[in-house]
Amino acid sequence: MVNKYNFSTIVLAAGKGTRMRSSLPKVLHKIAGKPLVAHAIRSVTPLSPAQIIVVVAEGMENVQTACTKAHTPCEFAVQTQQKGTGDAVRSALPWLSGKAEYILVLYGDTPLMQTETLEALLEKATQCDIAVLGMRLENPMGYGRLITGANGALEQIVECKDASPAQKKITLCNSGIMVIRSKHIAELLAKLSTNNASQEYYLTDIIQHAGDENLHCAVVEALDAGELAGINTRAQLAAAEAVLQTRLRNKAMENGATLIDPASIFLSTDTVFGTDVVVHPFVVFGPNVKVGSGVEIRSYSHIEGATIEGNAIIGPFARLRPGTLVEEEAHVGNFVELKATRLGRGAKANHLSYVGDSDVGEGANIGAGTITCNYDGVNKYKTTIGAQAFIGSNSSLVAPVTIGAGAVIGAGSVITGDVADHALALTRPEQITKPGKGRELKSRKKSI
Ligand code: UD1
Ligand code: CA
Repeated sequence: MVNKYNFSTIVLAAGKGTRMRSSLPKVLHKIAGKPLVAHAIRSVTPLSPAQIIVVVAEGMENVQTACTKAHTPCEFAVQTQQKGTGDAVRSALPWLSGKAEYILVLYGDTPLMQTETLEALLEKATQCDIAVLGMRLENPMGYGRLITGANGALEQIVECKDASPAQKKITLCNSGIMVIRSKHIAELLAKLSTNNASQEYYLTDIIQHAGDENLHCAVVEALDAGELAGINTRAQLAAAEAVLQTRLRNKAMENGATLIDPASIFLSTDTVFGTDVVVHPFVVFGPNVKVGSGVEIRSYSHIEGATIEGNAIIGPFARLRPGTLVEEEAHVGNFVELKATRLGRGAKANHLSYVGDSDVGEGANIGAGTITCNYDGVNKYKTTIGAQAFIGSNSSLVAPVTIGAGAVIGAGSVITGDVADHALALTRPEQITKPGKGRELKSRKKSI
């Protein structure tokens, strides 16, 4: 998207989030595997703000780390005491370069915001002094109410706690998101007081002060109120997860994936599907998963940090952990776990295996119950399995170890040394067979 508006963003993220009842800052709670604050940053990034300033509380280094991971350059302002949204914006002012014409205030706890909605708000801001994003809610409980005049101009925002019974009946609510012309911002914030039910500096009070100065404030009513939901409780977190998952599932299906039971499939914002992917019920995609065309993912699979190439088959009951590459037409079956492993083209690990820190060549067959023993309690080591190798069932491959191309490992072996190409290796006590002894043993047991 073009850099159409000359604006900077202040993202408020310093709140204690008391209602979450959590030791984690509220904005670090996640939906679709990503912290709330990262979603807020994502919503504004395509509009190329001059600066993104995130307001954090003291000791919130973990919030700073999460923002940095969102891959958008951010600056951080520290609000020393959480004295309200107005105070939070004020604490960001020293960081503003002064070049931006508009300041967009975003909340770190409002993750479902769509970029187009922010764009509409910025457009409105070019025709007034403050533009506030509003929404109609059937149940406006907890939200500030927007009081508009006869001409539709915004005159005041009244917090729910401070509202009169008549004001509480108003259904036009404050999303918290607003655009302020930067030349007025410092002066308006300086007028705030804590004379209210929460004894906080409310950002929302700047509307009344703006009116006193004959500045023009306007409302942009969002078409989809759900997009502006603020997260204050765990129940609201779960509701936002549901909304976002519906969006991600619809997008995946529009792009040509079959989700057999969309409601039971969980996606991340960065999940990528090729065409004609089929996902069976109850599959979870963690962050950073790419799925090639024609892949089939069967039920109860859990996949994160993995790339799956075309026409591979995964599951049911497969676990793919970060660093996994499943190449074209490879098969990963039930109760198989892969970690930091390449499974070469057409290779198969179909039953009950752990393959970690490994490189498996094309067409190799990993028998049922094969374990790569990659960890000695201190360090991790690599296992290399050559193309077309055959690993017999219930084998342990003690890393570091290399199995050559076309080699065969006898079932039940514990392999500690390298095996050359096309060799047969087995470590197994010899079998003892005693004729008739089975019958004798049974009758002795019965007589006891
Ligand atoms: C706020 C609005 C309310 C609006 C609602 C929408 C005010 C006074 N009220 O209420 O009108 O309907 O959002 O969701 O603005 N924060 C700080 N420092 C602080 C306090 C808060 O950084 O001292 C941050 C929080 O981390 C959060 C955001 O500001 O991301 C909003 O704060 P919150 O306490 O959730 O405000 P609400 O009570 O929801
Ligand atoms: Ca809130």
